[in-house]
Amino acid sequence: MTTRKFPATRLRRLRRTSAIRAIIAETNLAPTDLIWPLFVIDGENQIQAISSMPGVNRYSIDQILVQCSLAVQLGIQMIALFPKLESDKKDTEGSDALNSGTLICRCVREVKKRFPELIIICDVALDPYTTNGHDGVIKNDIILNDLTNERLVKQALILAQAGCDIVAPSDMMDGRIGQIRGALEENGFTDMIILSYAAKYASAFYGPFREAVGAGNLLGSSGKSSYQMDPRNSIEAISEVSLDIGEGADIVIVKPAMPYLDIIKQVRDNFSVPCFAYQVSGEYSMLMAAIENGWLSRDAAIFESVLGIKRAGASAILTYFAPLIAEKLNANQI
Ligand code: PBG
Repeated sequence: MTTRKFPATRLRRLRRTSAIRAIIAETNLAPTDLIWPLFVIDGENQIQAISSMPGVNRYSIDQILVQCSLAVQLGIQMIALFPKLESDKKDTEGSDALNSGTLICRCVREVKKRFPELIIICDVALDPYTTNGHDGVIKNDIILNDLTNERLVKQALILAQAGCDIVAPSDMMDGRIGQIRGALEENGFTDMIILSYAAKYASAFYGPFREAVGAGNLLGSSGKSSYQMDPRNSIEAISEVSLDIGEGADIVIVKPAMPYLDIIKQVRDNFSVPCFAYQVSGEYSMLMAAIENGWLSRDAAIFESVLGIKRAGASAILTYFAPLIAEKLNANQI
């Protein structure tokens, strides 16, 4: 690298006006970078606020359609759907996840009927369906890996049959990507995209989401640490990602995003598949709390948080701020 010296070099020359700054900007956000997570509930004409996520609601399917039409208008091309079931639909084995008439499948069918172009991502994991909120089947306090995988394979097939475009295993069981890929191939879903939550950490930042889907009060003191990754590790993320790509993942996710920007960067630098990042519920709520207190400037703080995730190497970002950011981008307000 050439040595640059003052005054031949004055870096402030390229920061002088907003037009110059825009033309040399290395990272830009567009609505197509954003994936909007939406929470679905049963019933009709229902909009339920989620107290720990100000501004985020759960919607019945008819209202989800209204949100989808907003997404399309804003240029958001992907949504991720998460169900919140009534507690009488849950059991210790998450049986409703294997029912093709379950809430999420009905929702996928309705959305696809009205908005065939909108890309739908469905989570593959048992936590909205189990009474204890764990992602797998438990026996004697142990989450059983291989038995859980059998269920996840069935769940993925049911979601594929319902018509989603992308299945996203978020459970962190070992070997599930390969088994899901095998079953999809065997059943004719050769073009189904697998978006693997490959580097998913056992994070405190999922708290508000667990309220949103009604899972988590009974997780136990070690939470999900026997299957999600330890926040102290990064080399392990490389192993997780390489295993999942080897087993047939098309895209990988790092989750959460802001406390794990180094992991996003490592995945970007080491692998040739797209890397997404999930700005999770706790990241959303943390920003919103400060914004609502007047401690942070809303648009600037939100935009910077998502821009940083993209700059680290994420090619798309799941964020609850998606509609707000898209609206501002479309109006050239950020
Ligand atoms: C569970 C799942 C979680 C999230 C997405 N899928 C929570 C968890 O692992 O407990 C969290 C998303 C968020 O916090 O916004 N399969």
